[in-house]
Amino acid sequence: MPETLTLTIDGVSIEAQAGQYLIEAADAAGIFIPRLCHQPGLAPFGACRLCTVLANGRPCSACTTPVTDGMVVANDIESLREFRKMTIEMLFVEGNHFCMFCEKSGNCELQALGYRFGITAPRFPYLWPQREVDASHPDILIDHNRCILCGRCVRTSRELDGKHVFDFVERGNEKQIGVNAAARLAGTDADISDQAIDACPVAAYLNIRCFAACQPLQRSGQCIVELLFRQGFAAWVEARLLDKGRRREFHQPFL
Ligand code: SF4
Ligand code: FES
Repeated sequence: MPETLTLTIDGVSIEAQAGQYLIEAADAAGIFIPRLCHQPGLAPFGACRLCTVLANGRPCSACTTPVTDGMVVANDIESLREFRKMTIEMLFVEGNHFCMFCEKSGNCELQALGYRFGITAPRFPYLWPQREVDASHPDILIDHNRCILCGRCVRTSRELDGKHVFDFVERGNEKQIGVNAAARLAGTDADISDQAIDACPVAAYLNIRCFAACQPLQRSGQCIVELLFRQGFAAWVEARLLDKGRRREFHQPFL
């Protein structure tokens, strides 16, 4: 039986189990600590720093810090709110995020945090990076424009799917998700049923059959098709739409 410890978060006393991470103890007590890279069931990673709290006065990531007895934690305080808001703003300007046209709008963790922290227009200049879309796989599309490098897909593929399809490649501004095949995603053993595909907090992975066959008139699907056209995948899109008998519906918005 694990030892029970007592700690306080923003003055509220809670109980936790020895060996738990701070974010797990807060979750169990119903206290929200913002996060993006943390996912229950995966080993702690500490990439996004959104869960930064002050534990006994020292900044640390709640997802990688084990609880200790008598710990005093500051979470929802002005300085941390400002730090988190700034971090989220930097994520928005660092990639290409068009929430109003995105098929994951309303179900995106980055967007939800944007609302939570009252972000309207980021204070930083947009970088508008040129990133590719990998539509080589028959079922899964990777849009690197939306990736926030949380590593959840990397760790889920390795730890839960037992595959190691994804990993980080390059450095700094060039860092992105790579796959374990020279021939892009099509050359891997990635499957639409992999837990790694669902682990993404944003819409960097898309179920091609879902957006291209099931929801052709949704604004999000239109946006992605437009993106594919811009990226030179017109022939591929046409082939798939003809295959599904939905060509007219899909093409109408762009004619
Ligand atoms: S593709 Fe999604 S899950 Fe993977 S690192 Fe990027 S944002 Fe995270
Ligand atoms: S959730 Fe803790 S660093 Fe990302």
